[in-house]
Amino acid sequence: MDFVADNDNNNGDNNNNLLGETFTASDKFLERAHITRMDYYHRIYQLSVQNPDAFWLNIAEQFYWHNGIQRNNNNTRAAAAGDGADGKLFDYNFDVTKGPINIRFMSGSKTNACYNLVDRIIDKGLGDRIAYIWIGNDLNERKTITYSELKRNVCKFANVLKIQGIRPGYRVAIYLPVSLELVTAMLACSRIGAVHTVVFAGFSSQSLADRIIDANCRLLVTADGTVRGNKLIKLKDISDESLVLCKHRNHKLVSCIVVKHLPVPNSCQQNRWSKYEPKFDETIDHYWDELIEAASDECQPVWLDAEDPLFILYTSGSTGKPKGVVHTIAGYMLTTALVFKYAFNYRDGDTFFCTADLGWITGHTANVYGSLANGATAVLFDGIPTHPNAGRLWQIIDENGVNSFYTAPTAVRTLMKFGDDYVNRWTMAKLKLIALVGEPINREAWLWLYNVVGRGRCPIVDTYFQTETGAPMIFPIPGCIPMKPGSATLPFFGIVPVILSEDGQELSGPNSGYLAFKNAWPSIARTIDGNHERFESTYFRKFPNYYFTGDGAVRDQNGYLWVTGRTDDMLNVSGHLLSTAEVESAILDNKRIAEVAAVSMSHPIKGEAICCFVVLKAQQIYDLQLEIDLKQRVRDKIGAIATPECLFSVRALPKTRSGKIMRRILAKIARNDVRELGDLSTISDESVIDELITVRRVVGDGDSGQQ
Ligand code: WT7
Repeated sequence: MDFVADNDNNNGDNNNNLLGETFTASDKFLERAHITRMDYYHRIYQLSVQNPDAFWLNIAEQFYWHNGIQRNNNNTRAAAAGDGADGKLFDYNFDVTKGPINIRFMSGSKTNACYNLVDRIIDKGLGDRIAYIWIGNDLNERKTITYSELKRNVCKFANVLKIQGIRPGYRVAIYLPVSLELVTAMLACSRIGAVHTVVFAGFSSQSLADRIIDANCRLLVTADGTVRGNKLIKLKDISDESLVLCKHRNHKLVSCIVVKHLPVPNSCQQNRWSKYEPKFDETIDHYWDELIEAASDECQPVWLDAEDPLFILYTSGSTGKPKGVVHTIAGYMLTTALVFKYAFNYRDGDTFFCTADLGWITGHTANVYGSLANGATAVLFDGIPTHPNAGRLWQIIDENGVNSFYTAPTAVRTLMKFGDDYVNRWTMAKLKLIALVGEPINREAWLWLYNVVGRGRCPIVDTYFQTETGAPMIFPIPGCIPMKPGSATLPFFGIVPVILSEDGQELSGPNSGYLAFKNAWPSIARTIDGNHERFESTYFRKFPNYYFTGDGAVRDQNGYLWVTGRTDDMLNVSGHLLSTAEVESAILDNKRIAEVAAVSMSHPIKGEAICCFVVLKAQQIYDLQLEIDLKQRVRDKIGAIATPECLFSVRALPKTRSGKIMRRILAKIARNDVRELGDLSTISDESVIDELITVRRVVGDGDSGQQ
């Protein structure tokens, strides 16, 4: 592969050839980089894909296995390859036409994630190292916790869970703001073999109830509330509502543990939340503090199978019903640990700051499992980047000596809008690396991050991953793989991405098509909770023998991958996936609406925003109140992130003759991109199109969403 790696090119602006422009790490960065040479990357990469068992065995040996590393000589792959002699760690079937999809890694080996993340680090002599720096919404809120203190709290809470009747395999829902208690609860579950399902604290009571019921959770951990910017979020009220919804659907929880998260109001905060008094139902509610205080701080880890579930995390699916993605212990633990080390070039003693909420996969992977497995110090931020001003993140980086900063393109675009002064006030003295995740980043935002935030000396690591892949799979290993703004570049060890044509042919060389993966890696999701059929049909049926991501991608002349976005009915709003179907179903709850289609439109900050075309029932009139009601219904049913950016009332939706809504056309109209609407030959009534274009022009002139 021929890379144009030229440090002189680093101002980046004199080169319009996007695909050819590369950036390399500074000499200073290279001094501490784990990998600096492309030939070394290629060599390890080849080894990792040719002999994944040997590659992962090497990683597994750095962890604790209660019965040693068991190598399975009887599994199907080993038998087929005829080389079962050394035994295999992997055993999987990716080919749905040959049998059920089945992925196993290291099964038979016993371990415990919490033990490996916390006890093992303490045993290395790092007990006094700070595991977390927690920073609250307001400037004066800061707490730290060492690895030893974390272990103590985790053991106490694990004992609390046991006293509440939680056993291995039971599910626990966690609906908390970003907090030390959230991490403690996750680790306590993993210590005793319970399965955590963290629900992002921005989701509505309905979404929380859906997840509690779907995962059959027996216990809920929540908080009184949290403050975001100047807004109070009444988490306990929302939790109470969701428990009522659960009860109506015959799902009863054994208890609800409430963290007192809201700061005690001082005089100037009096009006903000001092009047909020959440209800407390003694038959089910308990206060976290009281239970913790009474519990013992000793709790032996439960030795679990490598393939036992570690957690469930919900993500949107194109049918509208969220999918409970199941991750298992060993595969997830090993991959996140390894990726953390290489993607962020983790060096002993580094401080890491990831802005993702712990309720998303990025939070699980980077802030909890990856960071602890490496003995890192991580910053947890329970606030918003613009409070009290748009310099907050930069302030956190300086005040805490952050070395690696991980964020999302949407946050970058938001902060960029406020100008360079907010960044220039801070030194960024310790910052050595910046990483991104969630959606493709536009070149302008990449360059701003590189030049203004990173002062031209921090590699930008654009990491591509999904809730289902568990950890980043495609990213430029910093110091080694030259970067191109907007490209996640090349696959990590053990990962074999392919670009497929519509009929499932692998396309080589520069090409574009569907992004899929050819073989299993340890942290791939094992199933969708309670619905293996849906797991198979979502990821494995369209292209047998591949895991299909749902994304489209381009491969350029250097073999670099550029993820272009979803190819299914999914919307990526601020780096979070939502399905058109779930938004549509919320809108259809309104009795005045006959039909609706939700599509994405580009948005300068969020990347994509949701645009809905609604058809009213006869005799109904579209007015401002209806628009407010529809938006509110989406917020109540899903959460604020799903609120449509714009709504258009139209006479009819474009449909095929078989009655399928042509979202492709609506998306183009939403984007005001109507010159080339593509193939209209299947449309049943072409006059609908002209009308839609007119409505879009007249109503949509605000153009708030155009890039
Ligand atoms: C989808 C997964 C895992 C991160 C949070 C979102 C998009 C993710 C990138 C990237 C381009 C990206 C894809 C993917 N995506 N990272 N670096 N470049 N697109 O997790 O909700 O499971 O969404 O986010 O479309 O399929 P998620």
